[in-house]
Amino acid sequence: MNVARTALITGASAGLGKVFADQLAATGTNLVLVARRLEKLECAATELRERHRVTVNCIQADLADPEAPQRIYDATRNLGLTIDYLINNAGSGGPDLLNTRDFSEQRAFLELMMISVAQMCHLFVPGMKERAWGRVVNVSSVSARIPRAGGCNYGPSKAYLVALSEELSLTLRSHGIKVCALCPGFTHTDFHNEGDLKAMKESSASIIWYDAETVVREGLTALEQGKSVYVSGRLYRWLDPLFQSVWTRGLFKISAAH
Ligand SMILES: NC(=O)c1ccc[n+]([C@@H]2O[C@H](COP(=O)([O-])OP(=O)(O)OC[C@H]3O[C@@H](n4cnc5c(N)ncnc54)[C@H](OP(=O)(O)O)[C@@H]3O)[C@@H](O)[C@H]2O)c1
Repeated sequence: MNVARTALITGASAGLGKVFADQLAATGTNLVLVARRLEKLECAATELRERHRVTVNCIQADLADPEAPQRIYDATRNLGLTIDYLINNAGSGGPDLLNTRDFSEQRAFLELMMISVAQMCHLFVPGMKERAWGRVVNVSSVSARIPRAGGCNYGPSKAYLVALSEELSLTLRSHGIKVCALCPGFTHTDFHNEGDLKAMKESSASIIWYDAETVVREGLTALEQGKSVYVSGRLYRWLDPLFQSVWTRGLFKISAAH
């Protein structure tokens, strides 16, 4: 008899995280949902239990708090859970590195986007190694693939996740563990629902936007195929080699600076 796997998903109260939860639950995977808004997690958990007949636990945590990963790990131990899938998905837009004078905001952003992900891997991967089976998705972004003039915050933090995932993948593949940095382009979620991001969304062409279901489905398939970096969406997959090429990369840098 196959024992059901368990997936821990950060940022599961909205957007891509909620869709990861739905698609993994549809395969019979039990869930641990993590985010700050507990009521949203509990609402999602009720729906998922009813729709997919899986076990769902919720953990409230702010991943910008340096103590959060250890608390999440301890909570899963206290619940007697082993984590087979780790989906590091929580994230947000960041404060401008140069134009925000209070660095503590920047530090909290980097904690959420990079350090918490590294610590979640540090805590949960050894158990996967012992059991010789594990899956890790680090949700990065197309922004990781090309530098652009601007806030010097979001893209660099996502580039770290690509580098981390590639090294983890090389290190862990002989231990039955697959690791993938999923790089979505613009995706319909709550991410662009406010301020400048909302204005940008409203003025941009619909062709550059993908739905969250497609991004997650492609990401989970790429993970199983053993891809350590996966750019989701046909348009972005076509652009990515141009971003990475020594011949064409310069063109994008020049155009982004103006
Ligand atoms: N949408 C896009 O176009 C796009 C493109 C490329 C990459 N991404 C990446 O995809 C991931 C998911 O974003 P999304 O598009 O699904 O955005 P979203 O709809 O805004 O969801 C973000 C999720 O992250 C959680 N979160 C944010 N800050 C957190 C914190 N400090 N601690 C714990 N959880 C936190 C939020 O939950 P709470 O508010 O309840 O804490 C929410 O569940 C992010 O890493 C984002 O950078 C998105």
